[in-house]
Amino acid sequence: MTVCEYKPGLEGIPAAQSSISYVDGQKGILEYRGIRIEELATKSTFLETAYLLIWGELPTKEELADFKAEIRYHRRIKYRIRDMMKCFPETGHPMDALQASAAALGLFYSKRALDNPAYIREAVVRLLAKIPTMVAAFQMMRKGNDPVRPNDDMDYATNFLYMLNEREPDPLAAQIFDVCLTLHAEHTINASTFSAMVTASTLTDPYAVVASAVGTLAGPLHGGANEEVIEMLEEIGSVENVRPYLDNCLQNKSKIMGFGHRVYKVKDPRAIILQNLAEQLFEKFGHDKYYDIAVEMERAVEEKLGHRGIYPNVDYYSGLVYRKLGIPTDLFTPVFAIARVAGWLAHWKEQLGENRIFRPTQIYTGSHEAPYVEIEQR
Ligand code: SDX
Repeated sequence: MTVCEYKPGLEGIPAAQSSISYVDGQKGILEYRGIRIEELATKSTFLETAYLLIWGELPTKEELADFKAEIRYHRRIKYRIRDMMKCFPETGHPMDALQASAAALGLFYSKRALDNPAYIREAVVRLLAKIPTMVAAFQMMRKGNDPVRPNDDMDYATNFLYMLNEREPDPLAAQIFDVCLTLHAEHTINASTFSAMVTASTLTDPYAVVASAVGTLAGPLHGGANEEVIEMLEEIGSVENVRPYLDNCLQNKSKIMGFGHRVYKVKDPRAIILQNLAEQLFEKFGHDKYYDIAVEMERAVEEKLGHRGIYPNVDYYSGLVYRKLGIPTDLFTPVFAIARVAGWLAHWKEQLGENRIFRPTQIYTGSHEAPYVEIEQR
């Protein structure tokens, strides 16, 4: 075996072979199963895209109708899960609530049959169906209200916004939210997907796979950045303050949230679409002054850091879209998770086809033959 050079963060090291998605970071291209993200964002829906990612092909009309019906049927969560969630502190972060709730599903659906396609399908359907219900339920319960029951007459995106606000959303808002889900559904081996794959490689259950990925997505260097972007824009406060704020960040070598990417060295194609969605929402529902700050910040960062390939990533404009949809800031990352469940499950299913447990090596930097010093002599 050839010994490879150590790469912090495994930069550039292939850890799997996959046919699920493709990113060209120099050209700003993202494809799911070979189809460009721009095309899926305008022509597909989240559930159709999820089917494509997981089963590798666009569904026929009948296949899509069956898939949607199954998901609709499984949207409800057991009262024991609701009761468990009622005991979560309302001050807790919704990503922690989601991680615990996703893991709890494994208690109820514990039969594991990883070589049975019916089991795989059931797990996919349950996770796609129940994760949005759990995110919305925590939101209602932390305000002291009962969760809103899923509405069987509503599609996936409409139903989520309905469960969150207890009223039917505007059709444009629901349609834009559905596009957001499509954009966030998959992105090759990012940190949370890798976490899902490592967990999956032990042949544990899919609920543990998703729970571990949720925990990984939560961090501010990954999915958690969308929440921090809004906090940053609020802290900047005005367009005039953008450049002094940026200079201060650069002086202190602090990271500018929503910028930079391991793979993209140009503007993330999802950020381009999300910016456009934000503008559509402002046109219909009124402007957001934080958008002007965001645009000025993008301009200023490009001037100072563009030559180093630091541009807006997916998390930069998504928060501005979610704000306009009435989604609270600390739900931005759980909303990302709702979408990314599709990608995590696609990788889970792909990996089961040719599994080998992940077990990399390390470069040991400690000592050898060290003496054991008795406690009295330490
Ligand atoms: C997501 O991987 C995926 O696909 C993830 C994702 C997905 O769909 O799953 O796209 C979603 O996680 C988006 C990223 C969200 N995170 C942020 O917005 C946080 C801010 N960004 C960075 O911390 C950073 O850019 C990362 C974490 C996204 C990427 O980290 P890398 O590849 O390890 O790069 P790095 O931190 O080593 O930075 C390389 C250089 C450094 O300068 P030098 O030390 O070489 O001089 O670029 C600089 C960094 O300081 N840099 C930044 C910066 N991002 C990189 N400087 C200021 N602000 C930034 N945001």
